[in-house]
Amino acid sequence: MTKLLNGVDCKNKLKIKLKNKITKIKDKLSITVISVGNNEASKIYIKNKIKECNSINIECKHLHYEKTTTNELIKVIKKLNKDKNTTGILVQLPLPKNINEKLVINSIDKLKDIDGLTETNIAKLYNNEPGIIPCTAKGIIDLLDFYNIELVGKNITIIGRSNLVGKPLFHSLLNKNATVTLCHSKTKNLKSITKKSDIIIVAVGKPNLITNDMVRKNSIIIDVGINRINGKICGDVDFKKVAKKCEYITPVPGGVGPMTVYEVLSNTLDCYKIQQNKNIR
Ligand code: GUN
Repeated sequence: MTKLLNGVDCKNKLKIKLKNKITKIKDKLSITVISVGNNEASKIYIKNKIKECNSINIECKHLHYEKTTTNELIKVIKKLNKDKNTTGILVQLPLPKNINEKLVINSIDKLKDIDGLTETNIAKLYNNEPGIIPCTAKGIIDLLDFYNIELVGKNITIIGRSNLVGKPLFHSLLNKNATVTLCHSKTKNLKSITKKSDIIIVAVGKPNLITNDMVRKNSIIIDVGINRINGKICGDVDFKKVAKKCEYITPVPGGVGPMTVYEVLSNTLDCYKIQQNKNIR
């Protein structure tokens, strides 16, 4: 019988533990989410982040700009870097094309980088040193851990090499001693690779990219895709057929998505601890 990797259930259970830890802190944790432009998906992600923060007594401020410039954003971030009441800063991606994303992200104080996307935190992940890990990668690791899925020595294939998901995930899994293959749009004969994989993680944004014939029996499938077809949300996996063949699979919605939002909360507490000179691992 195929088992669902239920991100909502996992998030709710982990949140209880996190809330207990946050309750013990005297200071009020507060984050600021910055967004620019009119990305519909971003609006939904931000709404979820605000809701989840409120449920766990973390203040979540939202600064939205219809239009702005790289310099203006950096100015705002530098002010937040100095603000003692701000625990964490998150710049929602993607940013409009006129903005230099790299410069903006790297202007965030590494101690307040709850997304783990500054070059300092990425270098720590690369070097397997304690630091803030990008939310989707950490969410997937925590979800697999919650279901006691072993990673050591496993053949894991990631499809999608984005800075936000694929690349951080590659290093996170490597740090867990998995054997990781990172595939992308130029990969030849993807099926020959996925067929040999114990775990397949797909983060591309193409419905039905992973079909029944591409997966090994009893493998584990993690679907990071969020696509909208006729108003309905689906992932990158042909869920109905693939679910019959694999051992575990994440649903979309209700799999990786809730875990990503949970990690914003978890990373906020980690940032607070780092700011207090406390160990996070
Ligand atoms: N857009 C989609 N997912 C994410 C995320 O995890 N962090 C940020 N900053 N932007 C996103």
